[in-house]
Amino acid sequence: MGKSTDYTARQPDAFGVVRYTEEEDETWAILLKRQMAAIEGKACDAYMDGLERLQFPADRIPQLDDVSRVLQGCTGWSVARVPALIPFSEFFQLLANRQFPAATFIRKRSELDYLKEPDIFHELFGHTPLLTNQHFADFTETYGRLGLAASKEERVFLARLYWFTVEFGLIDTPQGMRIYGGGILSSIGETEHALSDVPQRQPFDVMNALRTPYRIDIMQPLYYVIDSLSRLSELTRMDLMACVHDAQRMGLFEPLFPPKAATA
Ligand SMILES: [Fe+2]
Repeated sequence: MGKSTDYTARQPDAFGVVRYTEEEDETWAILLKRQMAAIEGKACDAYMDGLERLQFPADRIPQLDDVSRVLQGCTGWSVARVPALIPFSEFFQLLANRQFPAATFIRKRSELDYLKEPDIFHELFGHTPLLTNQHFADFTETYGRLGLAASKEERVFLARLYWFTVEFGLIDTPQGMRIYGGGILSSIGETEHALSDVPQRQPFDVMNALRTPYRIDIMQPLYYVIDSLSRLSELTRMDLMACVHDAQRMGLFEPLFPPKAATA
């Protein structure tokens, strides 16, 4: 979440329907079509099952209520409409209540390939399919609860765990390496990059994930790999805050990326 934004979330009309412009609906259509082709054979089965259940419209931005209805039936989750940027405390509160925040705006055509702020395509296409999966849903709720109770310093460490699972997680399956992280699955470039020979891939380890620095504005140089989504359920039964404290004591690993260039 950045500090400022060029985007404004759209408000629903008197009927509770968010009306998007033709151009915005078309942006969704373009993103959906090309990303469906990009993830073929790369997204994990649970994600593809979720997509099948959600049946996103091909030609327009979905209404959040329609997505929520499906999620409710699967895992009790729903999608909550939020402004473009929300405070961290609200973000964690929503997750703890099994509500996934989504801002009702879509990226401009000039930012089709990469957008720092999470738009509705990232939230809906990237994250909601996995929220039909109990393991993923339970872990996301646990993360919300932990974040809510955490100090500012603890949240910074927790954010790395979220980053290397919910956003950028990979899963090793009998059919091969697959993607479950929504940050990858909603990005055409990262979908290609994540399974290519370029980045490092290491078995997931909580302590390592907590201690690995990341940058949000580059392709990830390293991904952590789980062997089953049930690994995420296991995490919910661990004392993750104790792990955070251990990670704080041990400190961060050396970054695998160059420092961000200073801006004038
Ligand atoms: Fe995300």
